[in-house]
Amino acid sequence: MGAALHGGPLLFLAPMAGVTNTVFRKLCKGLGADVLTTEFVSAEGILHRNERTRRYLEFEAVERPLGVQLFGGDPERLAEAVRAVVDWVAPDFIDLNFGCPVNKVVAKNGGSALLKDCPLLARVAGAVVGAAGETPVTAKIRIGWDSGSVNAIETARILEGEGVRRLAVHGRTKAQGYTGQADWGVIAAVAAVVGIPVIGNGDIDSAAVALRRFREAGVAGVMIGRHAMSHPWIFREIRMALETGELDPEPVTAAERWAFVLKHARLETEWWGGKEELAMRSMRARFMAYTKGLPGGARLRSQLQSVSSLAELEEIAAEQGMEKLCGIRERE
Ligand SMILES: Cc1cc2nc3c(=O)[nH]c(=O)nc-3n(C[C@H](O)[C@H](O)[C@H](O)COP(=O)(O)O)c2cc1C
Repeated sequence: MGAALHGGPLLFLAPMAGVTNTVFRKLCKGLGADVLTTEFVSAEGILHRNERTRRYLEFEAVERPLGVQLFGGDPERLAEAVRAVVDWVAPDFIDLNFGCPVNKVVAKNGGSALLKDCPLLARVAGAVVGAAGETPVTAKIRIGWDSGSVNAIETARILEGEGVRRLAVHGRTKAQGYTGQADWGVIAAVAAVVGIPVIGNGDIDSAAVALRRFREAGVAGVMIGRHAMSHPWIFREIRMALETGELDPEPVTAAERWAFVLKHARLETEWWGGKEELAMRSMRARFMAYTKGLPGGARLRSQLQSVSSLAELEEIAAEQGMEKLCGIRERE
């Protein structure tokens, strides 16, 4: 299960559709993420062998330990899809998505829909564990469907009973979507009652917060999503804090930030088969997130919003005086 990667608490990059492809996962691994997961992939997409699904399953050996995340609401179809995935790409683990709040997914009994149908949740988990054979199965849940039906302890016990080997808990209900605060009290309660490792997820945006969560929630690891999109250095910062106790990391310099943006953009373009315009368009929001807080203001934002080639991006970086920025702190 990779639990003995380095003996310390584990840092997980959260699966994020449209974000955590092989390129971004490798970049996060380079910055200290321990465990990676693909974005969610539908069991039906696998069984229909569609091209987009095939791309979701792409990963390189350096990404291991890596899990493929699946969603679906039909135990037999999921089991079939799991056998296919294990056969094609031999992931280190299969992760079941029981948290996705998106209507299109929920309407087909996938994602968080299963949180309010515990018998089906059990059947899905049992079928997948059986089909996965030697490959461990993990799961990711939300704490419940809505505030009146928080049932994470019940679902966690069911999943453990069905042979799920590790559980990530996002401390929000389905009804919350991404609003409000993640409830780490519930995450801690789950970690206290099950025997399998629990990974806490929700609103971690600094090393200090991560360390507090480790201390207070009794989790085996933390999973980071949105903050890693704008600040992937968080993995390095948490690791450093765990090793040295330093909670106030050196700010990432503007030069390092721009170098990272350019590297990500080049790798993404390769991943898009050299189709620069498509790659740049897919990354515009990411560029904005990476460069938030950097000097350049409205002009920089509008340039990034319309960037359509690598050359243009490099020009913007050069205009920002990237080469000369070494040593200038982003927060200065
Ligand atoms: C753009 C985006 C896409 C996501 N896609 C997935 C997904 O494919 N599978 C999944 O389990 N969770 C998905 N999530 C939820 C995250 O994995 C995570 O649980 C959530 O963002 C809370 O963590 P955070 O506060 O660190 O962002 C997604 C979240 C975002 C913002």
